Order: sequence, then C-alpha cells, then structure tokens
Amino acid sequence: MYILGIESSCDETSASVVECSDGFFEIKSNIIASQIETHRLYGGVVPEIASRAHTEVISKITYEALETASVGLRDIGCVAVTTHPGLIGALLVGVNFAKSLAFANGIPCVSVNHIHGHVAAAYLSEPGLKPPFLAVVVSGGHTSIFSADTYCDFAEIGTTRDDAAGEAFDKIGRVIGLPYPGGAAMDKLAYEGDPKAFALPNPALSGGLDFSFSGIKTAALNLINSSKQKNEEINRGDLAASFTFAVVNGICEQTEKAVLKTGMKTLVLAGGVAANSHLRRELGKLCERLKVRLVCPPISLCGDNGAMIAAAGYFEFKAGKFSDTSLNARACD
Ligand code: KG4
Ligand code: ZN
Repeated sequence: MYILGIESSCDETSASVVECSDGFFEIKSNIIASQIETHRLYGGVVPEIASRAHTEVISKITYEALETASVGLRDIGCVAVTTHPGLIGALLVGVNFAKSLAFANGIPCVSVNHIHGHVAAAYLSEPGLKPPFLAVVVSGGHTSIFSADTYCDFAEIGTTRDDAAGEAFDKIGRVIGLPYPGGAAMDKLAYEGDPKAFALPNPALSGGLDFSFSGIKTAALNLINSSKQKNEEINRGDLAASFTFAVVNGICEQTEKAVLKTGMKTLVLAGGVAANSHLRRELGKLCERLKVRLVCPPISLCGDNGAMIAAAGYFEFKAGKFSDTSLNARACD
C-alpha cells in the first residue's frame, strides 16, 4: 500500500510517498522544503516564521511528492502525519492540512509521534528489521534511549534532564561563529582539533541512563568567555573536537549500560544528530565490541522527513489506530 507521510514539526516541511508492506518499504518520493536559510538570519528557529513558511509550501510539497511518486490521491491508502512533539504552530499546519486532505478524499488518517518517526527511518534502510531493539534518538529537541518493544510501543529508559544534544551542538556552534544549525559544521570542525585539548563535563549521569547537556554547554561557554576576556581567540577546532568527544563518549557510555541492562542485540541510532560522523564511528566500535547489530539510517533520512513518518504511520495503520476529525497537534509527548 502507498502511505503519504507529512511532517512539519519544526523547520522542515516534508511530504513523502512510501510503498509499505511487512518487512519492505520503498521510498517513492521524499520532498523536503527546508527553512534553514530563513532561520539562519536569527541564529535559531523562530516559531511564528516556521508556521507561516509551512503554510506557504505544504500544499505544493505534497502534490510534488505525489507527482514524483507517479501516484494520485486515489492510490494513497493512508495519510500519516506528525502530531507531536514539536512546535505547536508548525505542527498545526501539517495536522490540519493532512486531516483535510484525508477526510475530503475518504482516506484513513493516522497520527505519528515524531520520535517514533525518527526510529522508523531505520525500517526504510534495513529491510527485515523487527522489534524488539534499543533505539538511541538524538536530535535538536530530544536525547533519549528507548526500548522499542513492538512497532508502536516504546518505553523510554533514559532521557536528558535538560537540553538535547543537538541543541547543545547548535548553541556552541553559534557562539563560535558557525552558521545555524551548528551541528553539521561542528562535526567537520572537530576533525581539525585535539579532542583532549579541553576537559569538559560528562553528559552521562551516573546511577542511571539519563543525560544532562546543560553542564557541558555552560563549561564550553565559560571557556569561550574567559578566552575573550583575556583578548585571546579560542582554538575553535580544539573546542569542537573536545565538545564532540565528550558528547559522543557520554552517549556511548549510556548506550553501553542500556545494552547490558536490557540484553538487546540490535541498536538503532536515529534523529538529526545521528548524522554525526564521530557518533556513528564510536557507536559502531561499541556495537562491534558488544556484538550488537547497529542500524544507522543513511544521513539523508536522519533529519526530519516525510518518509520516516510514512513508515511509522504504516504500523499505526496496521494496528488500526485511525484518527477522526478531532485529531489535533500537541507540543509535548
Ligand atoms: O531530528 P532533527 O532534524 O530535528 C529535530 O527533531 O530536532 O535534528 C536537528 C538537529 C540540529 O540540532 C542539528 O544541528 C543536528 O540535528 N545535526 C547534527 C549533525 N547534523 C544535524 N549534529 C551533530 N552532527 C551532525 N552531523
Ligand atoms: Zn526531528
């Protein structure tokens, strides 16, 4: 069956047609309209501007997705839309559009949790992947470890108590003059420095599987400020490398504990920060040592996109979790 996935939770408007069946997914189209250039002027996402920009392109993007996939609305078996969590105004654009399109055309509509969507990107790249598995979701808004017990039920076994890893990358990137969002630029810059140059706090909290990124963020900001006070230029490569080293080590540390605690044999890495080359490499080494299968979706499917929402929506559809016209968006989980 063909599923139309619609995503608008933050600063990407995306629509995708995915052909779905058990154990097989084929992306027929995955159109993404990024607002990054617009928000870059402000150094971060401006929620009101994001909502307006989604409104301007959502219809065009959706019809482009159908056309690229060479299908019509009559071929779509289900419309899947991100309903939560995210920016409420941005989500409302996608939800209202998807709902109107689905109900006006007699197509079933399902609600998708954005985080479940990120995890479902793994089904698109790894045919035959089945729960249970562990999922480490690292994005601009979330950093959590889940026990994905079934296709639709996830138990959060560790999470950040404050900032998300992506948010921390973006903040430090911005302060050292990298363009928004700083994550990808920090990734590259980290190759130019010494990861041991600065000792930064470990974001892995002891005694459990939680994280805290506020301490490492503040410590990095303090280093930058004290250099400025001394009229010195901080070595940006060293800072990016040390920051990345600490973040990646912290995520690996909690992941190792989660693997040992649950005995899971498969690990999925998902979310925008899953594109980080250092994280992919180090988790790869960890999984090899622990003899765990690591599934990392390709970089093109790590950021927000409609195809991951369609894949997650397939399982909601199969579980019969259809929405009616009261379907609404919500900012939180
Ligand atoms: O999942 P996503 O597209 O949006 C949210 O759901 O938040 O994640 C976006 C985040 C941003 O913070 C961005 O800087 C970060 O993912 N990111 C990266 C990399 N590519 C994107 N962070 C570190 N290294 C990267 N290569
Ligand atoms: Zn996301």
